[in-house]
Amino acid sequence: MKNIAVIGAGTMGNGIAHTFAQFGYQVHLVDISQNSLDKGIATVTRNLDRMLAKEKISNEDKLQTLANIKTFTSLKEGVHHCDLVIEAATENVDLKLNIFKELDAHCNAETILATNTSSISITKIASVTNRPDKVIGMHFMNPVPIMKLIEVIRGYSTSDEVTKTIMALSEKLNKVPVEVNDYPGFIANRILMPMLNEAIYSLYEGVAGVYEIDTVMKLGMAHPMGPLQLADFIGLDVCLSILKVLQDGFGNPKYAPCPLLVNMVTAGKLGVKSGEGFYDYSESRKAEKIANQFS
Ligand SMILES: NC(=O)c1ccc[n+]([C@@H]2O[C@H](COP(=O)([O-])OP(=O)(O)OC[C@H]3O[C@@H](n4cnc5c(N)ncnc54)[C@H](O)[C@@H]3O)[C@@H](O)[C@H]2O)c1
Repeated sequence: MKNIAVIGAGTMGNGIAHTFAQFGYQVHLVDISQNSLDKGIATVTRNLDRMLAKEKISNEDKLQTLANIKTFTSLKEGVHHCDLVIEAATENVDLKLNIFKELDAHCNAETILATNTSSISITKIASVTNRPDKVIGMHFMNPVPIMKLIEVIRGYSTSDEVTKTIMALSEKLNKVPVEVNDYPGFIANRILMPMLNEAIYSLYEGVAGVYEIDTVMKLGMAHPMGPLQLADFIGLDVCLSILKVLQDGFGNPKYAPCPLLVNMVTAGKLGVKSGEGFYDYSESRKAEKIANQFS
């Protein structure tokens, strides 16, 4: 495998492109928006500069990594002759099904089609292609260049051979792949989201305040970040939509999203990205909060 296409240049897509390019793969980064592509390359450049400043890479590594990424606004041109496509576009079922229909039409018959979806069924995505055995989940974690885990999700028809190829490729990126089956939330979100929801319920029911809930989990359970702050970082809209996938997929009321979460999303309080969630991220305080988080 040499040529990799990444669909979507947002938070995850640019991180995935960065990681493959740093390990010498030729990356085609595709987005419908030229602005997203420009922002994506700017983010990769900034992250490489940070690694350079910490002497984790040389200036030559930085330039080579950037040279390994080419950008495209045409999906058809971007996936031409690629051995693997990793879709990391917006989390929306219809959008992803359309992308996979197009990928199936434009990619070589041998090309493996992976998706970075957090919650959508791999089996469902595979069902709109003529190669369900070659469709697989490759769930990277944010920030991609730093986080070691890749949750590799086998759809109902994903072949052993394709799974083995993706597990081996993940190791070549110096990541740790873990194989799981395709059920709602996979493993990461099936376990994480109920915990975040329970933290929100604890706040809603007045058991404790934001600071107290996060401090118990940080200092008591050695979590690097409290659950309410983590929900803010993930995006409260994203948490809500994943909980709904769990609730619908299992038909079990234990996954019902807390009414406070629903209210906050309706009010546009989405966490870091909107400037306010459980914490205040208004411009003056945002940089300071984020800096404290990672110091
Ligand atoms: N953000 C996270 O922490 C995280 C973690 C793991 C997985 N994911 C998953 O990764 C995927 C991407 O999430 P994100 O946070 O990077 O989203 P994002 O909103 O930052 O980026 C999405 C990008 O997709 C582009 N896009 C939309 N439609 C497209 C199309 N038809 N063709 C090409 N590009 C298109 C948008 O222009 C945008 O640049 C989602 O499936 C999400 O569930 C996100």
